[in-house]
Amino acid sequence: MDICPTKIQARATVARLKQDGASLGLVPTMGYLHDGHLTLIRAAKAACDKVAVSIFVNPTQFGPNEDLATYPRDTDRDLALLKAEGVDMVFLPDPAEMYTEDAQTIVETTDLSGILIGALRPGHFRGVATVVTKLFNILQPDRAFFGRKDYQQLQVIRTMVRDLDIPVEIVGVPTVREDDGLAMSSRNVRLTPEHRAAAPALNAALDWAEQDLPLNPHTAEELAADITARISDADGADIQSVDIRDAETLALLTGPITAPAVILLAVRFGAVLLIDQRVVAP
Ligand code: PAF
Repeated sequence: MDICPTKIQARATVARLKQDGASLGLVPTMGYLHDGHLTLIRAAKAACDKVAVSIFVNPTQFGPNEDLATYPRDTDRDLALLKAEGVDMVFLPDPAEMYTEDAQTIVETTDLSGILIGALRPGHFRGVATVVTKLFNILQPDRAFFGRKDYQQLQVIRTMVRDLDIPVEIVGVPTVREDDGLAMSSRNVRLTPEHRAAAPALNAALDWAEQDLPLNPHTAEELAADITARISDADGADIQSVDIRDAETLALLTGPITAPAVILLAVRFGAVLLIDQRVVAP
């Protein structure tokens, strides 16, 4: 497994890996890998000849009061996991390698980045879109793999790739869950034991909606109210948003749900913001 801390090394390694026409899959990460990441890597390995993983805790997607300094990191463990998965290369830059001090170019999906999580975390999706564009330019993958759990991020990246004609196929991989239904995330380790016990309420509310909607027609407003009531019962749940949106465009739905919709949840437990999502059909 090649470990490349610089762009020059990464480009040379990519050229070598792709030299006989091999396809390259990329799994961008911020490290502290969990089973959700390993699922993305296995999907990439199944679909591509070679697999690259990037590990970069991207400062530009954290707000001034967010958890950049305390974001969990364990590079040695990550590299051991990636080696065991048979990953071909790891791009492991530091912030100075990725961003020059006078960098002035950003990538932003103007409508998608200001709603939902983007309204709670101004600038977050601009940071994501900019760093993912840079990763695509540096590593030139044929396919890139992202979790459907971060549904808005997935739509931001799909839209950016479409709008900027970036030659990469975006693959959305289904959410991986703990046994009790909590969506896997690096942030879960920061939940208190009480909040960890309460957090599966998000998945339980989504399961209920998925099963109930085909049987009992709901308006978007009724569905949001029912889900809010269910999650409010969980200890410490501080609901930031329960949004019912068009599954493709993320346009806010009102009235009867007549087409596939996505339920997007953002719920704080203490300092930890958890998100989850489900596409439901009427
Ligand atoms: O989902 C993440 O881990 C990050 O937002 C990503 C896509 C690696 C960009 O920094």
